[in-house]
Amino acid sequence: PKRVAILISGGGSNMLALVRDMGPDHPARPVLVAANDPAAGGLARAAGLGIATAAVDHRPFGKDRAAFEAALSARLEAARPDIICLAGFMRILTPGFISRWEGRMLNIHPSLLPKYRGLHTHARAIEAGDAEHGCSVHEVTAELDGGPVLGQARVPVLPGDTPDDLAARVLEKEHLLYPAVLRRFAMGDRRPIQL
Ligand code: GAR
Repeated sequence: PKRVAILISGGGSNMLALVRDMGPDHPARPVLVAANDPAAGGLARAAGLGIATAAVDHRPFGKDRAAFEAALSARLEAARPDIICLAGFMRILTPGFISRWEGRMLNIHPSLLPKYRGLHTHARAIEAGDAEHGCSVHEVTAELDGGPVLGQARVPVLPGDTPDDLAARVLEKEHLLYPAVLRRFAMGDRRPIQL
């Protein structure tokens, strides 16, 4: 099976969805869950499932992203991943790091890309009066939230939705979409899917 490393910053619900899908029949298996925040809740959840974890705190590195990434890369390289999944990883990666993994790194983003790259996607969709919102899994390239889209899932925006309401509706779809895309990607299938 393909070896998958998952990078997180928070609770790691997408990480858990990916790990739960990687059963014996799966073309991939999790070899490392790494976070840039030692307090990320997902680290303990991954460890509880018997998955190797690493915490590489970005804060001691200040503005030196390259030095942070060198420390992160050391942990990643040791796990020899074939695929890296960003799952709620909230650090911007430098072109140098991205090129090392180009074609082998996926991200999930809570919008229907190319709409709403960056942050506060749910509030922006509501503000714009969109009838539909959703999530995208894409290949990571040097352009932020800009690589080829491998899958999308849609949800309605309902009258009176707060950003949190909408985020929760989208997150349920994220948990279906990311595992579906990873399964295909691990078998070399990059044809985009719609859920
Ligand atoms: C998810 O909604 C993910 O799409 C989003 O952060 C959340 C992480 O939740 N990612 C981004 O905004 C990336 N810029 P999780 O830790 O429970 O998976």
